[in-house]
Amino acid sequence: MNELTRWLRAQPSLVGSPPPLDLSTLPADPVALFDTWIRHACDAGVAEPRAMTLATADAAGRPDARTLILKGVDADGWAFAGPRSSGKGHELAENPAAALNFWWQPQLRAVRVRGPVREAGAEESAADIDGSPAAALHQRGDWTLWRVVPERVEFWQGSPDRRHIRIVYTRDGDGWTRGV
Ligand SMILES: Cc1cc2nc3c(=O)[nH]c(=O)nc-3n(C[C@H](O)[C@H](O)[C@H](O)COP(=O)(O)O)c2cc1C
Repeated sequence: MNELTRWLRAQPSLVGSPPPLDLSTLPADPVALFDTWIRHACDAGVAEPRAMTLATADAAGRPDARTLILKGVDADGWAFAGPRSSGKGHELAENPAAALNFWWQPQLRAVRVRGPVREAGAEESAADIDGSPAAALHQRGDWTLWRVVPERVEFWQGSPDRRHIRIVYTRDGDGWTRGV
């Protein structure tokens, strides 16, 4: 084992404090639980809780991941935006499926979302460019809004005693199946 690996293994992990979580009052819909958790993260002072990892893969199945900003969440899915001419844009054109990951360290909470990806209409993409300073540097028409349409959403809350909680919503027709 090299010195870096030894040092890494000596670093603490899972040092946040999980908020109380009542498993008997969970909503039937993962969007509602996400709404509660991200607002709670914000209220607790988590820096930039909208930052998330987006994972995609190309046609050959080679994965890639990068950090993005969450642009919105509703019944249609979790929205993100970027240039169509980017790596993610090319990968999504070849393979329109993705996974998202959020990690709110002080609360030991993480959320994972996966499913097919749908491109929003030109109007919605143009509206995003108007509201985003980074997007404004890009060509209208290249800037694109996409949504991960959730098929599986996992809410994970760590515990210092390692009794971690995992709540998984799986799409079931028009509704959701929930498991803890
Ligand atoms: C905190 C943070 C937020 C970011 N937000 C976005 C974003 O909303 N859209 C975007 O295209 N890139 C964003 N980036 C840059 C991406 O991480 C990435 O470098 C870029 O999108 C190119 O990735 P790609 O070549 O895989 O497409 C962000 C980076 C960071 C660190």
